[in-house]
Amino acid sequence: MNNFTFYSPTEFVFGRETETQVGRLCIRYGARRVMIVYGGGSVVRSGLLDRVKDSLTREGIVCCELSGVQPNPVDTKVREGLALAQEFQPDFLLPVGGGSVIDTAKAIAVGYYYEGDFWDFYIGKAKPHQALPVGVVLTIPAAGSEGSGNTVITDTRTKVKTGLREPMLLRPRFAVMNPELTMTLPAWQTASGISDMMAHILERYLSNTPDVQIGDRLAEGMLLAIMEMAARVMKDPLDYEARANIMWCGTIAHNDTCSLGRKEDWFSHAMEHEVSAEYDVTHGAGLAVIVPAFLLYASRHNPHKVAQLAHRVLGIADSGDMEEDARQGALALKAWLHDVLRMPVNFSQLGIQAPDLELMNTRLHKLKGEVLHGYMDLDAAATMEIYRMVME
Ligand code: NZQ
Ligand code: ZN
Repeated sequence: MNNFTFYSPTEFVFGRETETQVGRLCIRYGARRVMIVYGGGSVVRSGLLDRVKDSLTREGIVCCELSGVQPNPVDTKVREGLALAQEFQPDFLLPVGGGSVIDTAKAIAVGYYYEGDFWDFYIGKAKPHQALPVGVVLTIPAAGSEGSGNTVITDTRTKVKTGLREPMLLRPRFAVMNPELTMTLPAWQTASGISDMMAHILERYLSNTPDVQIGDRLAEGMLLAIMEMAARVMKDPLDYEARANIMWCGTIAHNDTCSLGRKEDWFSHAMEHEVSAEYDVTHGAGLAVIVPAFLLYASRHNPHKVAQLAHRVLGIADSGDMEEDARQGALALKAWLHDVLRMPVNFSQLGIQAPDLELMNTRLHKLKGEVLHGYMDLDAAATMEIYRMVME
């Protein structure tokens, strides 16, 4: 096991009707002037926004609102939020929604105290030292941003989609998580969210650091549980227990508990971010096509963890041929994503008929380097081969 530090200060308030506590939570974390951030309107339609505002008003908190954050959130909305923040002078940010809304709020949080352009932080030109505090009301289990120190934004001019990781600054102070709020999700969003959280677990599981048994067993247990619950929720979207398990899984899949002490991978994500930046597809659905291809490639080049996954999670019997078992595991996951989650299996099913693989691959290596050093060393030819496999 490698050395690590783990700072995860988020207070999770989980269960039915917990959104009524949001005003009290804001006060506990020092908020008096709150900027609420939300998306395209689902929280208005469900009445959640009104309930949140009532809870804040009851505590005497003053609010302003930034609405219209889109999935795969963009720099222009962050700048709109920064202008509003300069005017309103909030002391706290409250995203009500999913990863896109939370990540936009986190970008505003670091940009607020910075004289330059917030994007400098995302491209490594500057390092943030201060951020407005953020609290979350989560409506979709997927990105795990409610417990992570990360934010992912797309620059609309260059179509670079990239993340900033600052756990000491960006892990939310609290996250309110009511599984009932997720019952209004369309099946596609529920399934994409599950695909994303499974990918978050696999990015940590695909590691060559030896003997991280705790991380491996946690990851395998989470995957087994999520697959069972996913089958239930796809049949019955109103199954509260399944929704609850999935919601909590989305958080621990990405708050680092199962990656501590080892080197992580994250190159399926890097490859997917090129797809969603260029074609604006749903992130989790993009992962559903990339991850199986990535695992199939790994089964030929570094099969040991994929074979372990196949044996312990995907029901593949140990044949003594590690490479073949890994391949069977990758195919089993691909079939499961399609049969149970009804996720696409290739670019065409994802809605991209003629993807510009060359463009995505060039951007990927421009952003991440000539060779991606993760679970495998991937040069441009290797990642191109993986992208090509997604054509099939
Ligand atoms: O905009 P509204 O109208 O609210 O609709 C949203 C949106 O269209 C809808 N939705 C959310 N909750 C709902 C609901 N519809 C009905 N009922 C509800 N309860 O769902 C759609 C997707 O929302 P979004 O916030 O985009 O989803 P998600 O949480 O999957 O976030 C995706 C973004 O997070 C990034 C992704 O790349 C993508 O940009 N990620 C962020 C990470 C992080 N910060 O740690 C890590 C991830 O790997 C990921 O990259
Ligand atoms: Zn993700």
